[in-house]
Amino acid sequence: MRPLCTALILLSLLTFSSATTSSGAETLQKACNLTIDYHFCITSLQAHARSRSVDLRILGTIAIDLSIANATATTSKLEILHSNNASKPYTKNKLEACLMLYKNAILPLRLAAEFLASKHFGVAKSMMEAPVFAPGSCQGLLGHMLAKENDDLFNLMLIARRIIEALEQ
Ligand SMILES: *[C@@H]1O[C@H](CO)[C@@H](O)[C@H](O)[C@H]1NC(C)=O
Ligand SMILES: *[C@@H]1O[C@H](CO)[C@@H](O)[C@H](O)[C@H]1NC(C)=O
Ligand SMILES: *[C@@H]1O[C@H](CO)[C@@H](O)[C@H](O)[C@H]1NC(C)=O
Repeated sequence: MRPLCTALILLSLLTFSSATTSSGAETLQKACNLTIDYHFCITSLQAHARSRSVDLRILGTIAIDLSIANATATTSKLEILHSNNASKPYTKNKLEACLMLYKNAILPLRLAAEFLASKHFGVAKSMMEAPVFAPGSCQGLLGHMLAKENDDLFNLMLIARRIIEALEQ
């Protein structure tokens, strides 16, 4: 048998087995189908969604937990940039504003995760409303600086919000 042919058969067997056995992957695909950026959603959540018992609510919680981890990491970066720019008031003020926006996003995100865990979907969704604006406001202040961090956090929170909306219906 030619190598390519063997590879194709192996590949189809792999695809078949993953389609039939891993309901975790299927749940993830369905959930990410709900979001704006399917690829980003899969990439962000798949490492944390291997378990077969993963459901939409757990995926929502994972998205919020990743949002919190992202926001916290960016807060540290902002603190470093802030102290390195202490002698430049204009930059310093912008970094300070951003730092406040990010810090203020973390508590509502934590509460959103708690309300999601207790199936209070409407309240969980409300808790997402203010944090969702933080990365955009920050991007408005800082431009290209921390652009990836702002984009990542925004996209993660959109995934969480979309999943919560789906659970609410
Ligand atoms: C995702 O959506 C596409 C079309 O929009 C559909 O063909 C596919 O079956 C969906 N995947 C899952 C796992 O629901
Ligand atoms: C933030 O989110 C992005 C996108 O999912 C991910 O690649 C990155 O590892 C996350 N960073 C932290 C510190 O969690
Ligand atoms: C100060 O802020 C600028 C952005 O305005 C940033 O690029 C730079 O790395 C910061 N300086 C230091 C020493 O961290």
